[in-house]
Amino acid sequence: MVQRGSTRPAESGGLLSRLFGRNAGSSRPANAKAALDLPDIQGFILRGYKMPMVRHFLLTVGVPAEARKLLGRLVSGNEADAPQITTAEDWHVGFEPGPGDNPAGSPRRKPDYCLNLGITWPGLVALEIRDRVPALSFKSFGAFIAGAAERAKLVGDTGESGPQHWIGGFGTGGDHVLVTLHALNPEAMTAYSERLSALFAEGGAFREIWRADGMALMEVRDGQSVPTFKVHFGYTDGISMTTIDGGPERYPPDHQQPCEPWLFVLRDDAENYLMPEPRELGLNGSFAVFKMIRTDVVGFEAFLQSNKDKIDPELLAAKMCGRWRNGVPLMLSPDSDSPEGGLASAQLNNFEYVNADGSGDPKGLRCPVGAHMRRINPRGQPVTGQGQPGGSNNTHRLIRRGLPYGPVYDPAQPDDGIERGLLGYFINSSIENQYEFVLGHWVNDSEFAGKVRLNPKSKDPMIGTQDPAESIFVIPRANGEAPIKITGFSSFVTTRAAAYCFLPSITAVRFIARLG
Ligand code: HEM
Repeated sequence: MVQRGSTRPAESGGLLSRLFGRNAGSSRPANAKAALDLPDIQGFILRGYKMPMVRHFLLTVGVPAEARKLLGRLVSGNEADAPQITTAEDWHVGFEPGPGDNPAGSPRRKPDYCLNLGITWPGLVALEIRDRVPALSFKSFGAFIAGAAERAKLVGDTGESGPQHWIGGFGTGGDHVLVTLHALNPEAMTAYSERLSALFAEGGAFREIWRADGMALMEVRDGQSVPTFKVHFGYTDGISMTTIDGGPERYPPDHQQPCEPWLFVLRDDAENYLMPEPRELGLNGSFAVFKMIRTDVVGFEAFLQSNKDKIDPELLAAKMCGRWRNGVPLMLSPDSDSPEGGLASAQLNNFEYVNADGSGDPKGLRCPVGAHMRRINPRGQPVTGQGQPGGSNNTHRLIRRGLPYGPVYDPAQPDDGIERGLLGYFINSSIENQYEFVLGHWVNDSEFAGKVRLNPKSKDPMIGTQDPAESIFVIPRANGEAPIKITGFSSFVTTRAAAYCFLPSITAVRFIARLG
């Protein structure tokens, strides 16, 4: 019998303070190998900004020389001239002192915006970087050069999710530069958007071909509308966040080993790629997959209800994800989203699937091996492409920087015709070895779990590319009870847009601007 309580995990207010709170600080362990050049690295690679709204602008290059010049203005340090790209340093670089700061000291106040930049391969060509830099080479990064549309099949972006259906000019070759503006409030969003739009148009530098907004889902608490970490299927997100050895971000400690920095920042000590050339362009950069993913909330809720004779709808939702919708992980509380005594928010990510001695939940009796979270970060579970039981299997990790788009779903108005989904970046240093590997081998394949044999047709039940004629999600049960088999469901997500982007360092943007 499933117990279901209305209480949120203990200290759930911590989620909100994580959304808006300042980081605990940027001091780093004295580990020289991990030293990251924070002022040179774009901020969103290493830090979640915890701002409630975002706007993405897709630009096509108009006049290349003007476009290069404009990019330079975004890293000039002169904020009066143009909003500045946000770096990974704690809040101050590129920002004028804010209210409450001591103008004589280093301003530390959280800014009201953050700005970032991604450039596709067609973008680098259109900016004439290929023409002007004969040494240019992205030798280890064939996927980036091929682009999201050409690689779509490898990650399950087929059928309705295929590039032929993408919106906004994505995948057509005119998708050159993505500018991403986070803001603390609507006024800041409007003000910086207007400044940016005017700058893009100056001298015909860029044409804006598409824009989209994301925003934290709001809920009313104590009569006040407050932002949450929820996503549209009703789950709490933003709990398992990738930490980087030497990085500035401090999440509540969990048992997972921090990742090697080269997995997310292009560095000379990388084990599986050569730095793009010239080095000035590559060093301290990264890559990201920008994605707009529509979520079929109505279909998802109907699916949960349609299986209620087999399994409680909330338990099914938890088994599909790996967490109850309130964020409590199945590994720590398999039967209830409200474990006795509560669960501190700092504990929500403190678990393992399989321990070093093979104990834990190797067969998926608590959390199915095929659940979304367990496929996408199998932790200590030995799977295709990684590992020892209990090992720190970090080679294929991703950093997620996304926000929902569309308003909170109202079950009383299921057919409101409004599109909802997730919008943002999956960041990694190797799109092949991280993003594509995970989606190709773990999400959309059944063979990934080594000795644990999953149904050959099974895929990630939440985000896998499903064919109702053969889709299956098997939920193993303890005490020799027969597993529950859920079949005949469609995909709950559709890719609406995707782009493979290079995230240049500040030095690289200056290099581009200096090309004249
Ligand atoms: C709209 C589609 C999606 C929804 C609703 C969704 C939802 C979720 C939820 C609720 C969690 C657990 C929250 C947490 O632990 O922080 C999660 C974890 C995660 N998701 Fe997704 N997700 C979606 C798409 C994707 C895609 C396309 C990817 C990868 C390309 C992805 C990668 C991850 C990763 C890496 C984790 C963390 C797992 C861990 O570290 O344990 N998700 N997702």
